Amino acid sequence: MLVDIIAGARPNFMKIAPIIHEIERVKHPKLSYRLVHTGQHYDKRMSEDFFDQLNIPKPDVNLESGSGTQAEQTAKIMVRYESLLLKEPSDLTLVVGDVNSTMACSIVAKKLNQRVAHVEGGIRSFDLSMPEEINRMVTDSIADYFFITSDTANKNLIKEGVPGEKIFFVGNTMIDTLLANRKRFTKPSCWDDLGLQKGGYIVMTLHRPANVDEESSLIELISTIIESGEDVPIIFPIHPRTAQVFETAGWEHPRLKLVDPLPYLEFNFLVENSMGVITDSGGITEETTVMGVPCMTLRDNTERPETCTVGTNELLGTNPRAVAPAIRKLLDGKWKKGGIPPLWDGKCASRIVEQLVKISDEI
Ligand code: UD1
Repeated sequence: MLVDIIAGARPNFMKIAPIIHEIERVKHPKLSYRLVHTGQHYDKRMSEDFFDQLNIPKPDVNLESGSGTQAEQTAKIMVRYESLLLKEPSDLTLVVGDVNSTMACSIVAKKLNQRVAHVEGGIRSFDLSMPEEINRMVTDSIADYFFITSDTANKNLIKEGVPGEKIFFVGNTMIDTLLANRKRFTKPSCWDDLGLQKGGYIVMTLHRPANVDEESSLIELISTIIESGEDVPIIFPIHPRTAQVFETAGWEHPRLKLVDPLPYLEFNFLVENSMGVITDSGGITEETTVMGVPCMTLRDNTERPETCTVGTNELLGTNPRAVAPAIRKLLDGKWKKGGIPPLWDGKCASRIVEQLVKISDEI
């Protein structure tokens, strides 16, 4: 069975790495893969650095779709993936996460009567203002196999009518990558440049359209965070989307330390050694949960509730006023400790590959 492994944007790369490594380790005669990069993220800092650091082989195919509006990007990926499958079909399309590439390739594969497996299926924020939620819902409405990270995902899928035998609770591939690389985390150059010390700074990441696309609200949010942080520096690896808005605003503050998007090993070094993280990312809330690092999420909802109920994450909403009391709690050392959700144990990819071998008997 030839499996197309689809990756397009930064948060996909850490999810596919352990699956590829496991397929290569197992070398099962019935299982081969083709790595398809859609080109949704194309900067060295957003893509190539992750391939290098996580030892992901060069993609077999790069669809070079690039940026665009939601529809332009999705359409470009669809047209190019369809053309690939028509010329050189595979047997199963494996998509991960919730980015535009995930949905685009699922639709194409399904319309060509090809099976689709969704890694990280079933999670829901129930917030249709996020493109990612639409991507999740569409992908899950047509996928054939669901590799899930939590019991909540299972409940969501069952409620939507997915037969239980198509759902496999395997754990979290992103955590496989985190645990496999934890000893390799690397001090970023900004550590010495900024004179950082363990536990002496906060890391912030922001890229959701709701938080960053409107210049005045982005500046209000960031200035409230800075004011609440007393004398603690805020390290802000800035996503290209946020940089576009932030740089035209020309706003600065001595305690706000802007740095380029960091490679995987450097970013997680910074997180692991921080006092806490402020973010609107979903994946980072899973990584901070496993590392036991306090995490404040600037969103009204999360598709990963276990990071709050079990882990170190707390949802603050998007109103800047919610940030001050949360930072106070962090500075006072009163943040909850948190535990680790079931099966986030570093062995997810081996469960997935075991299942793929069984699926190859059905196809
Ligand atoms: C995408 C994903 C989001 C994920 C995020 C992580 C969707 C709908 N969103 O959002 O789920 O959390 O990636 O980064 O798929 N850009 C560059 N260089 C790049 C890539 C993008 O400069 O390598 C610029 C683009 O020109 C664009 C902006 O960044 O203006 C946004 O990129 P895009 O892929 O559209 O969405 P993200 O906001 O990155």
